[in-house]
Amino acid sequence: MMSPYIEKKDVTEKSSDVVWHEASVSSEERNALNGHKSVVLWYTGLSGSGKSTVANAVDRKLYDLGVKSYVLDGDNVRHGLNGDLSFSDVDRVENIRRVGEVAKLFVDAGVLVSTAFISPFAADRVLVRKLLQEGQFLEVFIDTPLEVCEQRDPKGLYKKARTGEIKNFTGIDSAYEAPTQPEIRVTTAGKSVEECADFVISQLKQREVIEVKRFGCIGV
Ligand code: ADX
Repeated sequence: MMSPYIEKKDVTEKSSDVVWHEASVSSEERNALNGHKSVVLWYTGLSGSGKSTVANAVDRKLYDLGVKSYVLDGDNVRHGLNGDLSFSDVDRVENIRRVGEVAKLFVDAGVLVSTAFISPFAADRVLVRKLLQEGQFLEVFIDTPLEVCEQRDPKGLYKKARTGEIKNFTGIDSAYEAPTQPEIRVTTAGKSVEECADFVISQLKQREVIEVKRFGCIGV
């Protein structure tokens, strides 16, 4: 029997026999119950820039504020859902497409979801933005210069990329297209994780994603 993975299918092609089923609870109702909006915080940046670290620090703060949140992390998702994907350009595109679809489901479920993926190609990030409604996609650029990431090299991967042991490494022999107009830009060099996370939280308050009074609890 032929493996289903050998025959590449256009995954965007839908069967005419599949009909969308309307949900009985809307995402607006879920947001009202939760007392905050559900959005995607789409972290992008080089490997070692601090995406996962900042996303997790923000997630802790959100949890402490009573926000329903979750982090989808690139390295972790590549162990499971996207375990079949490599770092070729084609597979990176598919990686981001799948994560975009999952993030959309989280938003529909009323969750403030953070995604921490390099997501090196601007066009792919635009595609995910288009999956969501206006204001539901917040691009968070973890703006850390390549030199700093390479100096940190927390997983020793830049060293391997420089010696050619790893191919197609972002920033070395694979492109990274930095966002030009991110909703939130976090410059991490010289800042503590705490400072970076506080900055993201302040941006979420300013945009009324969290701590929105009109969503206040019943009886308040
Ligand atoms: S993405 O480009 O498809 O968005 P993703 O965020 O899922 O990448 O995975 C990046 C992580 O995979 C890096 O943080 C690093 O730990 C690891 N990795 C392994 N090989 C590579 C590579 N060739 N390029 C970039 N990251 C790699």
